[in-house]
Amino acid sequence: MKKKERALIISQTELAAGIFEMRLAAPQISSCAVPGQFVMVGIRDESHILPRPISICEADKALGQIRLVYRIAGEGTREMSTYLPGTSIDLTGPLGKGYPLDAVNEDTTALIVGGGIGIPPLLGLSKALNCTRKIVLGYRDELFLDHDFESCGNIYISTDTGSHGVKGTVMDAISQYQIKPDIIFACGPLVMLKAVKGFAAEKGIPAFISLEERMACGIGACLGCVVKTPERDNHSNVNNTRVCTEGPVFDSREVLL
Ligand SMILES: Cc1cc2nc3c(=O)[nH]c(=O)nc-3n(C[C@H](O)[C@H](O)[C@H](O)COP(=O)(O)OP(=O)(O)OC[C@H]3O[C@@H](n4cnc5c(N)ncnc54)[C@H](O)[C@@H]3O)c2cc1C
Ligand code: FES
Repeated sequence: MKKKERALIISQTELAAGIFEMRLAAPQISSCAVPGQFVMVGIRDESHILPRPISICEADKALGQIRLVYRIAGEGTREMSTYLPGTSIDLTGPLGKGYPLDAVNEDTTALIVGGGIGIPPLLGLSKALNCTRKIVLGYRDELFLDHDFESCGNIYISTDTGSHGVKGTVMDAISQYQIKPDIIFACGPLVMLKAVKGFAAEKGIPAFISLEERMACGIGACLGCVVKTPERDNHSNVNNTRVCTEGPVFDSREVLL
């Protein structure tokens, strides 16, 4: 269900260089958010910047709060990082389709793979999945949120620099630790998602991937986020799908990367 909500910033913390965590009081959005969904964050009027999509890292229904973790990429996210606790901002959400929690049961071994700023939405997912969880987190160098995952399952780290865990990519960690999943859930850069899609196809297992890299209006209007699909859409007869409304989470077999 789509909702606009004025949310109060409760805290703003720098978790690692250029990576911020914002906790917000947003009772409506927190009451119905599913892991993998996102919000459009309204950048305050004076900047004239359009709202920016940020995934919901976690939603706490009881407290009526959500947690966003974001990296400063440009002007919009830089301005977000200056907002102090006590400031109110406009959010629209929860938007998009989240991860299918019912794709697992208690006998399933799920591989949860996050790369860089794709890691945050996997925290809410990891807490919600009712199965064995093997969690692979890939970073450039500095870690963030890794301790938050500790209660969810076995954690495996990779870093580009080798400062922590396996030196290399998440795929190197999966191979080194010989992880044999029944299903994969992933979020991260396109190059990582392509590798995950290929791995899943090779093993003949399903993979649900979140395509966070492509977005413009966020509400289905501009077609700025379309990705190619192998099948034609019955309604419009084209091989396209919108990331913002039909995604951002897709079965990897349903999109061409
Ligand atoms: C569904 C979805 C969920 C997202 N969730 C998160 C999240 O949880 N945390 C987070 O930090 N970011 C997330 N992003 C990415 C975030 O929306 C962008 O980094 C942000 O909009 C950039 O805005 P800006 O004004 O700061 O930078 P801009 O000035 O708009 O862009 C600065 C640079 O970042 C690049 N960029 C812009 N958008 C993206 C994007 N979507 N992916 C990669 N590079 C981009 C631009 O090409 C440019 O080089 C998500 C994106 C989508 C589509
Ligand atoms: S971002 Fe505009 S249609 Fe998806």
